[in-house]
Amino acid sequence: MLTHFKNYDFKQFDFDKKVVGICGLNGKGKTNLLDAIYYCCFTKSYFSSDAFNTQFDKEGFRLEAAFENSETKQHVICIHRAGLKKEFYLNDVLYDKLSEHIGLLPTVIIAPDDIEIITGNSEERRKYIDATICQLDSEYLLNLIKYNKILQHRNSHLKQEAAQGKIDESLLEILDQQLVEPAQIIYNKRIDFTAKLLPLIDRFYKQIASSDEVIQVSFESKLKNKKLEQLLIENRQKDRAIQRTSCGIHKDDLVLQLNDQPFKNIASQGQRKSLLFALKLAEYEMIKEGKRFSPLLLLDDVFEKLDDVRMKNLLDWVCNNNEGQVFITDTHKDRLVNEFTKLEINGQIIEL
Ligand SMILES: Nc1ncnc2c1ncn2[C@@H]1O[C@H](COP(=O)(O)OP(=O)(O)O)[C@@H](O)[C@H]1O
Ligand SMILES: [Mg+2]
Repeated sequence: MLTHFKNYDFKQFDFDKKVVGICGLNGKGKTNLLDAIYYCCFTKSYFSSDAFNTQFDKEGFRLEAAFENSETKQHVICIHRAGLKKEFYLNDVLYDKLSEHIGLLPTVIIAPDDIEIITGNSEERRKYIDATICQLDSEYLLNLIKYNKILQHRNSHLKQEAAQGKIDESLLEILDQQLVEPAQIIYNKRIDFTAKLLPLIDRFYKQIASSDEVIQVSFESKLKNKKLEQLLIENRQKDRAIQRTSCGIHKDDLVLQLNDQPFKNIASQGQRKSLLFALKLAEYEMIKEGKRFSPLLLLDDVFEKLDDVRMKNLLDWVCNNNEGQVFITDTHKDRLVNEFTKLEINGQIIEL
């Protein structure tokens, strides 16, 4: 149930089939509807900050949703009012910390701008890794929040030192010490996680691209060769000069290569899309394995992005080999209905 959320004034939906096709012309609210589902799972929008989620001219929004699988039923309510703290309820109990909700309703989304994970800077890839591990491991999320807080503090301290022209060595040492522990925990978990994730990416890429191209995906971190304590000391002077922290787990990356070259420099559009889907399906698989049930899958305008064969492979895999509910948006109803018929999917079609 969506109230004053983006273009929705008030609207209720029932998604009672395993595969749900959402169709409507551009601007009808397909992406916004997926985002409302995403919101209920992650306590935030995938696309925009809360200031942009409230319907224009309204004071706030409300989302309410019931999630049900064979074992449990969860009821979520989110109330956001301008200027007030967001209220998020699970089964009528208000969350103290929103982070406690993450992972309860595991979800994977694939949206058009996600191609940035392949072509954009390392921040996009860290977000991808974090979003996946956070859903599986609450300790990871807590340490990430802690690390980012201390990092922010350290960076503003470096700026302040520069502005005041005074050095406070002891405070910097304390901040460095505080950074080390959460950084090590996050680093260890990223190493364990990527060791399992990378072979899956490789497998899915071969499957989607139906080719033998050699892709190499590796996890890179400066912490591989040195402890963070050491790195912070070695870079202290540099950090003071640039007024921010130049090394740490906030610089880790997933390095993507095709035939030994940076992937984004040489890959075609089709190859990029194949790799994006490989990353996302690997995420799906990791979550499914960790949770022992399939996450929700939100596919925004994926028909625009893949050719017929790849699309058929993908849909067949997600709809017919998994238990989880799948939501697919498309501007063309006929195309959705056709795909469903071809794959013998008994899906639900919602027209906006
Ligand atoms: N905060 C908001 N209040 C009212 N309308 C909004 C808000 N944010 C986005 N919209 C409207 O939502 C529409 C886009 O919806 P979207 O879900 O992206 O459509 P599509 O069906 O193409 O995916 C646009 O017309 C946009 O103006
Ligand atoms: Mg859209």
